[in-house]
Amino acid sequence: MLILALVAAFLGPSALATTLSTPSTLNITVIGASNNHSVLECWALEPGFSESATPGISGNSVIGLGQGSGAVDFALIAEHADGGLHNAPAMQWVTFLSGSAHITLPDSEDEAWVSGGKYGTILALDTQDVSAEGHYTEYPSDEVTVAITVPIAAVPGHRVLYQGPCRDTEQDY
Ligand SMILES: *[C@@H]1O[C@H](CO)[C@@H](O)[C@H](O)[C@H]1NC(C)=O
Ligand SMILES: *[C@@H]1O[C@H](CO)[C@@H](O)[C@H](O)[C@H]1NC(C)=O
Repeated sequence: MLILALVAAFLGPSALATTLSTPSTLNITVIGASNNHSVLECWALEPGFSESATPGISGNSVIGLGQGSGAVDFALIAEHADGGLHNAPAMQWVTFLSGSAHITLPDSEDEAWVSGGKYGTILALDTQDVSAEGHYTEYPSDEVTVAITVPIAAVPGHRVLYQGPCRDTEQDY
């Protein structure tokens, strides 16, 4: 009994739960800007994942997404909606929970298809001051596209992996 209590005290409750093996970092599709035009890039965030010590998720993987800067919105976007040509209203994370978004560019053939779900988070940075025209977004899904937008104060630390959206090989978790 004493031994069990000591083992439990040593391991802590988190050791009894299943945890995920920690991937190196999160790779994210970014709508960025270069020479006053919107571009698509795949970024690896830096620093990468670490093991969380936060109660409730302790022992699992966590990565910081930067400092928030304003109101967080939860948007319901109609099936087959056309968002048209627009700039990011602010530098922001956009997490699609359902539906899908198809992002295209006025000055490039690059395009991104983002499905709602665990790979549904992108970073939109092409504000008016850095991109004259912005990007197009359509929501081709037959279901409502739910999106959470989180404005950020600064571009998070990163390394650019390549031009164009992240591919499946960069999003494996
Ligand atoms: C971007 O292009 C717009 C429209 O041509 C122009 O008004 C603006 O000054 C340009 N911005 C930069 C930073 O070059
Ligand atoms: C992110 O990309 C790097 C470089 O391709 C890769 O090694 C890593 O496994 C990727 N991370 C995930 C979570 O897929």
